[in-house]
Amino acid sequence: MEEKKDILSLDKFSTDEIYDFLKQTDSFAEILKRDVKKVPALRGKTIINLFFESSTRTKVSFEIAAKRLSADLINFSVSSSSLKKGESEIDTLKTINSMKIDLVIIRHCDSGYVNYLAKNIDASVINAGDGKHEHPTQALLDLYTIYKNFQVLDGLKVAIVGDILNSRVARSDIKLFSKMGMNVTVVAPSMLLPENFGFFDVKITDNIDKVISEVDVLYMLRMQFERQDRKFYPSIREYNKFLSLNCERMSVMKKDSIVMHPGPVNRDIEISNEIMEMSESDKNRIKINTQITNGVAVRMALLYYALG
Ligand code: CP
Repeated sequence: MEEKKDILSLDKFSTDEIYDFLKQTDSFAEILKRDVKKVPALRGKTIINLFFESSTRTKVSFEIAAKRLSADLINFSVSSSSLKKGESEIDTLKTINSMKIDLVIIRHCDSGYVNYLAKNIDASVINAGDGKHEHPTQALLDLYTIYKNFQVLDGLKVAIVGDILNSRVARSDIKLFSKMGMNVTVVAPSMLLPENFGFFDVKITDNIDKVISEVDVLYMLRMQFERQDRKFYPSIREYNKFLSLNCERMSVMKKDSIVMHPGPVNRDIEISNEIMEMSESDKNRIKINTQITNGVAVRMALLYYALG
């Protein structure tokens, strides 16, 4: 029997394999431009979206991606399931697995829990974000967005700004961007950094103004209030002073630089409302919507890898 193809992180993939994913994503992006945006690539395959934590972008884009590939996708509703009668998460997953599905896409609030679940079922598993740990599909769509903009990755300067401590996106992005030869600087005060952060080989600074004029990519992170059991930053005013993007700061960025954010944006915290409301022509360096669009094609490529 062929080994199942889980995607729990992108660590196992070589740079060549990552470039293959980017190339493959181009083919799927082309399908999404057609009038009939559907191919039979995964006809007969059954996929379950199992989100124990809330999501808009990841959940919906996986659903669209699966449908574009003609797979059958079922959205499992945690709130109306037997979990509410006390069934454990692992028993729930084993129950779903017994129905002979091919792939489960899982989001969970506990770091590393998706890896544990993946070991206990036959179906392939894609990690749609687990706690503060990994968000591999977000990292790949971020990389694809950068690659399509610059046509190159090696040597690009990226600053990742904000709540590194609580961010799975930051972890997955830092590892992937560094692997692909990008120079990563992290902008966060010590209280928004994990204690063992030396593990990542990146530069660290605590003030966005120290790097903003040099970077090609300014990646703003969401403040993860739902993961903060205490106040990690003195005030929004203080945050705005050292870490937020506003029009004044954007004016010193390089002309061809871009701004990214995984969403959802806390307006006037990470990015000012004024920037979020810019007209489309002024906003073409703000890639937040492009990231979302690219998310569908990237997830088609990942589903095809896991099941194709
Ligand atoms: N970026 C991201 O994971 O967004 P959602 O929580 O809406 O899926």
